[in-house]
Amino acid sequence: GTTLAASAAESGRYFGTAVAANKLGDSTYVGILNREFDMVTAENEMKMDATEPNQGQFSYGNADRIVNQARNQGKRVRGHALAWHSQQPGWMQNMSGTALRNAMLNHVTQVATYYRGKIYAWDVVNEAYADGSSGGRRDSNLQRTGNDWIEAAFRAARAADPNAKLCYNDYNTDNWSHAKTQGVYRMVQDFKSRGVPIDCVGFQAHFNSGNPVPSNYHTTLQNFANLGVDVQITELDIEGSGSTQAQQYQGVVQACLAVTRCTGITVWGIRDTDSWRASGTPLLFDGSGNKKAAYNSVLNALNAA
Ligand code: G3I
Repeated sequence: GTTLAASAAESGRYFGTAVAANKLGDSTYVGILNREFDMVTAENEMKMDATEPNQGQFSYGNADRIVNQARNQGKRVRGHALAWHSQQPGWMQNMSGTALRNAMLNHVTQVATYYRGKIYAWDVVNEAYADGSSGGRRDSNLQRTGNDWIEAAFRAARAADPNAKLCYNDYNTDNWSHAKTQGVYRMVQDFKSRGVPIDCVGFQAHFNSGNPVPSNYHTTLQNFANLGVDVQITELDIEGSGSTQAQQYQGVVQACLAVTRCTGITVWGIRDTDSWRASGTPLLFDGSGNKKAAYNSVLNALNAA
């Protein structure tokens, strides 16, 4: 293939990007988006603060712009994210107990119902595990509603949109030996054993010098897949430049391609200047929209599959 999407499709996979609604008027941006990618994630527009700014009042304008642009171009959409401790609307941040649990479940139900049939996979719950050595849940207002909040969210999402794949999504879960990776693994194992509806695990894959691509990445992805879920690389970016960065991107692509149930890769933005990182050059296109060495290494790795 001569594009990321076409090359990924040769092995039945997708290649996606995060999209920001306020860039859909930028012709360079949209040109690359339409040419190279066949899966889209809204970078911020489907989060809880964006879709339910006031309790019970839902707002889908910017999310719809992204979903409609993608679907009109024949692309699929990953939904991000139904329940998360961060980017909650102000009204939710100070809630607790049963009121919060019910507000969260209503949010999951309403948003998943609104987009029913249009979403390939939902990040039902995002970033619920703690960093560090505990391997346990992160403290948050949602966690304090009871440890079963995650499975309750998954059951609500399944009821609302039965054909969407339902994912748990997190970061720093790439290294198999890390406690956080093990904690998420045990949760997925438990969900599968008890019939909690979970179909996939998203690995955000935000890498930098302090958090490099681990040498056991393939092991991590394969071990999760062996639990009976798909795995996806959902927010890939790698700090750095030149051949070092290109090699790291190649390693991530190869790790996914080596796992049958790794169904696709999404990068977290198009050009370096579109990245959430305030500085740096973590993406596949430079600020002018030119292909970087990292782009060529990803394309070659996809085509070698
Ligand atoms: O839109 C407002 C703008 O009106 C305002 O003037 C400006 C002033 O701060 O803020 C703008 O909103 C910002 C928004 O991005 C859009 O640019 C928010 O402050 C800022 O917090 C928000 O950052 C996003 C971040 O999630 C928030 O958690 C990033 O764009 C987005 O890339 C990032 O994405 C996350 C994933 O959802 C989850 N995994 C990690 C990943 C990277 O942090």
